[in-house]
Amino acid sequence: MSTEILQVTEDKVKRKTGSPKDGTTAQRRWRLLARALTRSPELYPEGEDEISVRRFTSFDLLRPLILENVADAESSWYEYSTVIDNELFDVQIRKINKNFTANELIGFNNTGNVCVWPSEECLGYYLLKNRNICRNKVVLELGGGMSCLAGVLVAKYCNPSGVTLTDGNVTSVDNVRCIVARNSMADFVRCGVVQWARAANALRQAGNNGNRIQSWDAEAVDESRQTDGLYDVILSADCLFFDEARLDLVETIYGWLADDGVALVMAPRRGPTFQRFAEAALKRGFLARQNEHYDAKVWSRHLELLKHNQEYCPDLHFPILLELTKQTKTPPG
Ligand SMILES: C[S@@+](CC[C@H](N)C(=O)[O-])C[C@H]1O[C@@H](n2cnc3c(N)ncnc32)[C@H](O)[C@@H]1O
Repeated sequence: MSTEILQVTEDKVKRKTGSPKDGTTAQRRWRLLARALTRSPELYPEGEDEISVRRFTSFDLLRPLILENVADAESSWYEYSTVIDNELFDVQIRKINKNFTANELIGFNNTGNVCVWPSEECLGYYLLKNRNICRNKVVLELGGGMSCLAGVLVAKYCNPSGVTLTDGNVTSVDNVRCIVARNSMADFVRCGVVQWARAANALRQAGNNGNRIQSWDAEAVDESRQTDGLYDVILSADCLFFDEARLDLVETIYGWLADDGVALVMAPRRGPTFQRFAEAALKRGFLARQNEHYDAKVWSRHLELLKHNQEYCPDLHFPILLELTKQTKTPPG
């Protein structure tokens, strides 16, 4: 599966795709993303100039090595590994082998079934380097895609007191369940479908009724979470560019984060989308801290890529760390 990531030049998109009445900006972006990912000739005609495809997939922090003996028609297994301070860290990750049609990419929402995105890799690596952040903490990942790589690394190496891995896409969550089983984590890691709109609506309703937090709905990850079962650490990677879902994601994080907790949100700028999310978070009542220099190795890779890789576009590819807290807190790490 190609994991090319595209750069959309807004003015060119508008020129080619007509007026906003042709669909929301997000839908237009997804149509373009679909073309870049599928590279089907009729979806990606030669000479079309409104997008430029970026062949950048990884900061090479965690190396994926294919596990030949466990592949099947629907999936491949990889060992993701890295060495930090002479210590080896590795987890086995299942990737879905499917060529998504344009419609599947535009609909809800297979972006997390296409690849492990660089933000997820950087977040996982950062947490391995700063294992104290999740030690003895109750950790939730939102929008973790088919791998929830960061949350899986936390579960294996950071001694959390509990880990819950989620995405809004059922196929992603089924895949994460396979990963959790294969890495022998099923007894202390929960997986479930969490769609931010549903979570946020339930939280808003509970707020209107004077309750602090609602129990989860039918697809609950943890129905026992009633009033005080908040999360100490919430993780999210590359989930900020969904215009329609932005306020719901902010609300979900706000509602489920403990008062002294921290949300670590990793994402590239992607035009104005990162900033819009940060502003929405501030408006909701979070304290927000943006950090580009969160890790020396990621930063040096970024500088190397800027110099030597013409396909590297920081706006699309360089993940920034946004730390959200409800009160002043010593920064993690
Ligand atoms: C670009 S992918 C990132 C996946 C993963 N974090 C990674 O970096 O590899 C965005 C993820 O957000 C999820 N997502 C999008 N909108 C959502 C929503 N409204 N509720 C829950 N998940 C959503 C998608 O299913 C997808 O897995």
